[in-house]
Amino acid sequence: MGVAEEFVARTGAEPVFVGSAPGRVNLIGEHLDYNGGRSLPIALTYRTQVAAGRRDDGRLVLHSVQAHDEDVSVPLSALDDGMEGWGAYAAGVVWALGLPGDGPDGLGGLDLVVDGRVPTGAGLSSSAALECAVAMAVLAVAGESRTSDEIVAACVRAENEYVGASTGSMDQTVAMFAEPEHALLIDFASGDRRSVPWAPPGDLVVIDTKAAHTLVGGEYAERRQACEAAARELGVEWLADADAAQAESLADPVQRRRARHVVTESARVTDAVTALEAGDWPAFGRLMTGSHESLRDDYEVSVRELDVAVEAALAAGAWGARMTGGGFGGSAIALTPPGGADEVREAVAAAYAREGLRPPEFLDGSAGGPAEVGPRG
Ligand code: GLA
Repeated sequence: MGVAEEFVARTGAEPVFVGSAPGRVNLIGEHLDYNGGRSLPIALTYRTQVAAGRRDDGRLVLHSVQAHDEDVSVPLSALDDGMEGWGAYAAGVVWALGLPGDGPDGLGGLDLVVDGRVPTGAGLSSSAALECAVAMAVLAVAGESRTSDEIVAACVRAENEYVGASTGSMDQTVAMFAEPEHALLIDFASGDRRSVPWAPPGDLVVIDTKAAHTLVGGEYAERRQACEAAARELGVEWLADADAAQAESLADPVQRRRARHVVTESARVTDAVTALEAGDWPAFGRLMTGSHESLRDDYEVSVRELDVAVEAALAAGAWGARMTGGGFGGSAIALTPPGGADEVREAVAAAYAREGLRPPEFLDGSAGGPAEVGPRG
């Protein structure tokens, strides 16, 4: 059943609009968004769809096809009170958009039915996909227009202030601005964005390690705080503005390692864009692997499952491999030469079996398009 049919089955009415938005993998430039650096993510073809329609009882009613026994129903007027669980990502967006609930121009109430096809807990930004899809659908129902930058800002605010995860803006930015078969080079200090053709001759294999991943816990926030403290210590606006000598001059060994990652990762992004534009895939792959090592050793956000996947992929001939996203579980990516994907997948699965890990899941790494919204059907 499609999301529009689910909506009819749930509410007895036709949805007015269906919004959708993609998950993502970041190719390189990890943990640089909140450090004023640059990242190079692609949107995936896995998407979350949200069917939306009005109600007349002033309530926001959320239903998820995947979490069907966890419906959420709250008065729009009570959104300020906050919420726990998956519903907070959707309710937080409605809250952050600041649309009037009552009155002649008010929403009057909302039904949202969510079909999330971005694997959750896999570090593939299922939350940003949900947020952006909700924003697109709700704005269409309300007849309000916002720029994509304003939508990014509202979704980030929902995640930071409503859900309480202190993430940056990479995931929402790529969800809103991605182009199929392109990567998006985002400069978080200037706000500049540029699409770069992404057509590797082999495959980008996405490996969901199945190691639980969450950014609401303290580790992500701790990394961000250490970087902000290091930037203050060095007197730079953004840590990504520092150079290697400055990073090494930090007295605190933890801050020094975090800063080393930020500085070396920024240099790798520059080199990766050069390699990409020159079609030098082995060089691009080596930079990916360098990024993984830095995230493992200096930023300390990798876990055994990610390291095992990366090592097995490289041993099976991948040009490069790395964890992607926030870390602490989630997914890895491997860039393979033409015809090399099966060997990489088999090697990773065999390594997991040998190490006694839960079998990983392999996903398609094709580069998809941005969030969109349309009338039902
Ligand atoms: C998560 C966050 C992003 C970004 C990455 C790490 O995906 O949501 O804002 O910080 O981690 O690059």
